[in-house]
Amino acid sequence: MSNFLSQTLFKQDSKEIVAEFSSDAEIVFAHGNSLNILQSCPDGFAKLIITSPPYNIGKEYETQTNLNEYLKEIEPVIEQIVRVLAKDGSLCWQVGNFVEKSEVFPLDIFFYPIFKKLGLKLRNRIIWTFEHGLHCSLRFSGRYETLLWFTKSNDYIFNLDPVRIPSKYPGKTHFKPGPKYGLPSGNPLGKNPSDVWKLMINEWETGLWNIPNVKANHPEKTLHPCQFPIELVERCVLALTNNNDWVLDPFSGVGSAMLASVRLDRKTMGCEQELTYIEEAKRRMNLLFSGHLPYRPLGKPVYQPTGKEKVSQIPQVWLQETVQ
Ligand SMILES: C[S@@+](CC[C@H](N)C(=O)[O-])C[C@H]1O[C@@H](n2cnc3c(N)ncnc32)[C@H](O)[C@@H]1O
Repeated sequence: MSNFLSQTLFKQDSKEIVAEFSSDAEIVFAHGNSLNILQSCPDGFAKLIITSPPYNIGKEYETQTNLNEYLKEIEPVIEQIVRVLAKDGSLCWQVGNFVEKSEVFPLDIFFYPIFKKLGLKLRNRIIWTFEHGLHCSLRFSGRYETLLWFTKSNDYIFNLDPVRIPSKYPGKTHFKPGPKYGLPSGNPLGKNPSDVWKLMINEWETGLWNIPNVKANHPEKTLHPCQFPIELVERCVLALTNNNDWVLDPFSGVGSAMLASVRLDRKTMGCEQELTYIEEAKRRMNLLFSGHLPYRPLGKPVYQPTGKEKVSQIPQVWLQETVQ
């Protein structure tokens, strides 16, 4: 495991994992179709619903169909999601693009009217940007996805202090004449992280980490083709819920949202149709309990190459071609 990226989490008290929602459960891993599972859950139980739905791009767990069919199929799940969301709750819907014959369809644009029709209010359209990914030749390479943060009403939880990030210039002072002149103008806890988040994604698929002295792979990588980094969920859980609230991921994959929630003392439920992913999620949860879950800590700076790594250097063949 790469020693500058990876960290394991402290041991946590282990909790019982159950397969169905009940109000006295703390961790629910529900195996099956989220539509059926959610239909049996009570109204308004979830304070935060955070998820990355299937994008309909032909990943191993989905059958690709046309965009309208895909949206029609997912709409009843969204109706259930909105029903089980608390009145003062938040929904974080993380998506990228659907691509057909090289034409790009940004999924958030297509989902927005569905949520709006159901009465949700958009608070932020967060840009999650990353430096690596597919290199396109017929258009610019895509380097962000979006996370739509909706609330169900105007009364919602927003805890800014736990997610503040260090200010670039903490020494800045008020410069206008007046009682505050010369005093620090920032907040000692740091600044608002803004709606552009530079968190790690998929660097394990790019080979970036295949460089000398850095052992390959993101510390959290599992068998799932597109899992959330735990730190992305942590920011949302800290800002949008309080201790002991329920956090739901209706497309939970290998349980990253649930790990972040349990780690932060929230109750959590995940729905997942693939048994292999549920099993992997449970394995990760047990690693969390025993203090062995590989984890990239929240806010850890993205690695900057020093220029000495082999992959940072201009290949010799290119240099030779330039000289000739
Ligand atoms: C984009 S992945 C989510 C990955 C997850 N965020 C993680 O960190 O592992 C979407 C997941 O939804 C699951 N899925 C797709 N349709 C589903 C459905 N109707 N019911 C339950 N799970 C579904 C897929 O198997 C896949 O694991």
